[in-house]
Amino acid sequence: MTSPVLEAIYRRRSIREFTEREVTGEQLHEIVRAGIWAPSGLNNQPWRFAIIRDRGVKEQVAEQTHYGHIVRNADALIAVYLSKEDMYDTVKDVQSAGACIQNILLAAEALDLGAVWLGQILKNKAEVNRILELSDNFDLMAVVALGHPAHRNQKSKRKDITELLLKEI
Ligand SMILES: Cc1cc2nc3c(=O)[nH]c(=O)nc-3n(C[C@H](O)[C@H](O)[C@H](O)COP(=O)(O)O)c2cc1C
Repeated sequence: MTSPVLEAIYRRRSIREFTEREVTGEQLHEIVRAGIWAPSGLNNQPWRFAIIRDRGVKEQVAEQTHYGHIVRNADALIAVYLSKEDMYDTVKDVQSAGACIQNILLAAEALDLGAVWLGQILKNKAEVNRILELSDNFDLMAVVALGHPAHRNQKSKRKDITELLLKEI
C-alpha cells in the first residue's frame, strides 16, 4: 500500500542548495497553512510566522548564522515563532512548534520544493527579532530556508528500529 503522506515522510531530505527559480507567494502561503494545521495543546495555535523574501533582509538574517550560505541561496525564509502571550505550557507549546515546522517541511516536499530547518541561528534570536522589527513577545523556534532544489542527491540515515525500541510487550 502506498500513501502520499508516508512517501513524503521518507522522501523528504534537508535541502541546502537551491536554483534561482522563485517560490510563489501562493506556495509560501500554502506551506504556512500546512504549518497552521499542525496539532497544538488545547488547540492554542501559539505559532506565528514571518515570511522573508527581501534580499536585503535575507542578507541580514544570513549574517546571524554559521549557515548563512544556505540562507543567502534560498529564495525565501519562513521564521517560525511562538507568541509568548499565547503559550500555556512551555514543553507542550515547543512541541507544537516542532509539529508545525515538520508540517512546513512536508508541505514543501509535497509541492516539490526543498527546505531545511535551521536551528543554529537561535543563538542569535534576539538579533533576528531586531532585524525583523519584532518584539521579544515572539520567541524564535526555527528559520526554514526554502527554494527549488538544485539537486536531490542528499543522503541521510537513521538508526534501525531495533536499536530504538525500548520495549514491545
Ligand atoms: C532542531 C533542528 C535544528 C537543525 N538545525 C540545522 C541547522 O542549523 N543547519 C542545518 O544545515 N541543518 C539543520 N537541521 C537539519 C538536520 O541537520 C537534518 O534534519 C538531519 O541531519 C537529518 O537529515 P535529513 O533532514 O536530510 O533527513 C536541523 C534540524 C532540526 C530538527
